[in-house]
Amino acid sequence: MTTDRSGRPGNILALAGSGLETELTDNQESVWRDVVKRVDEVYSDLLRYEADLESKNAELEEAQSFISSVIASVSDILVVCDERGQVLQANPAFVALLGRAESVLIGRPLLDLVGPEDRDEARRHLSGGPRSEAAAQAIDCELHFLTANGPSDVMAINFSGRYDHSGRCVGSVLTGRPIGELRRAYQALHSAHLELQKAQRKLIEQEKMASLGRLVAGVAHELNNPISFVYGNVHVLDRYRKSLTDYFAEEGAAGGDDALRRKYRIDAILRDLEPLIEGTLEGAKRISEIVKNLRRISFNRAHEAQKIDVERILATAVQWAARAKKNHAQFDVNVAPGLFVWGNEGQIHQIVVNLIDNAIDAVRGISRPLVEVRAALVGGDVEIVVSDNGPGIADVAFDKMFEPFFTTKTVGEGTGLGLWISYAIAREHGGSISAANREGGGAQFTLRLPTGG
Ligand SMILES: Nc1ncnc2c1ncn2[C@@H]1O[C@H](COP(=O)(O)OP(=O)(O)OP(=O)(O)O)[C@@H](O)[C@H]1O
Ligand SMILES: [Mg+2]
Repeated sequence: MTTDRSGRPGNILALAGSGLETELTDNQESVWRDVVKRVDEVYSDLLRYEADLESKNAELEEAQSFISSVIASVSDILVVCDERGQVLQANPAFVALLGRAESVLIGRPLLDLVGPEDRDEARRHLSGGPRSEAAAQAIDCELHFLTANGPSDVMAINFSGRYDHSGRCVGSVLTGRPIGELRRAYQALHSAHLELQKAQRKLIEQEKMASLGRLVAGVAHELNNPISFVYGNVHVLDRYRKSLTDYFAEEGAAGGDDALRRKYRIDAILRDLEPLIEGTLEGAKRISEIVKNLRRISFNRAHEAQKIDVERILATAVQWAARAKKNHAQFDVNVAPGLFVWGNEGQIHQIVVNLIDNAIDAVRGISRPLVEVRAALVGGDVEIVVSDNGPGIADVAFDKMFEPFFTTKTVGEGTGLGLWISYAIAREHGGSISAANREGGGAQFTLRLPTGG
């Protein structure tokens, strides 16, 4: 503060840097006071803003480091791409998966990092558009990435669009995890489950067959006595019939009582007796044949195992079956030399004859009927395969053909015991029989027998 010439206090305005000092009037002074006050206020506002800004900045940095630490500790992969599909940011899990430096990945097109077979799929999901209900939905797919050591395990990837405040798509975000291990574990579980189901079905089937076997063998045993005396008695009856026929022939020639013969239809009865007795005998024979077959199955290994030459047994079985059947077929026998199995030769022979019998029956009426018999060593077992070019196994037969008395053949043509007996014998020998229809047509039966004693 200064005083002017009149003694009134006056203000001196110092113009910064100008070196000039100017005396101010009261009015001017009050204006300047306002200005200085405003400047003070603005300055303190500025200081407050700066403090605010600093604290906001600190908060922002904290939030950013929180997000970065979360992203870094996520074990799933996370990749952020721009609208051209170039990598903007990738988390450590992705960097570790690819085995390349982060700096190499940033700025590269994501498609360069995706396996060639998955690129079309990835391209589809990377190309964004305006935000819509469908586009906003995350898309799941499976991709392989190209790592430094070749293609990665299959990854389950989720694509979602990135949008700015106006709803425009500005890129995409990928998250995902490897599922190869999980899938392999699931597949192992699935096949273990299937194996278990198969084993369970086999157990049930074996148990069913074994109990059926015991039942049938018991019934066969009980039937054996009555059927043998029916059989014997019918033979005696036939002899009696012959005597009676002779007697009535002689009596008629000696002028016997014709009226009485007509009244009791003696001649008609004598004529009928022969076919009736023959029919009964035929029936009895058939029953005794069945009973004989059933009784032949011991269901336990009572016989001494012997070494069986597979080549020889197949040759005789083909001969037997071919000779016994009325219809003919061409045989194609292909047996690896030197194959042996241990067991009861008669029984193994019976199985092969049964299978060949069925094959010959199946090709009846077929042009160029063909029955193929092959034998080879497969996985330590001898595998004997009998196949034909017939119509194949009927759908109705598939589940039941190994059961006793199941047949699709007409009465007198098949008893339905062949496969059942064969199955039982194979099982007794520690082997198995399976059946399938061939792709080109016809049926195929596979007998597997262990080579051990
Ligand atoms: N090669 C084959 N092709 C088509 N179906 C077959 C074949 N082998 C067997 N089958 C079916 O399996 C059924 C049962 O056969 P299985 O040998 O047990 O009895 P069968 O031949 O009918 O009578 P049996 O053998 O007692 O004389 C047959 O009736 C037939 O339906
Ligand atoms: Mg048969």
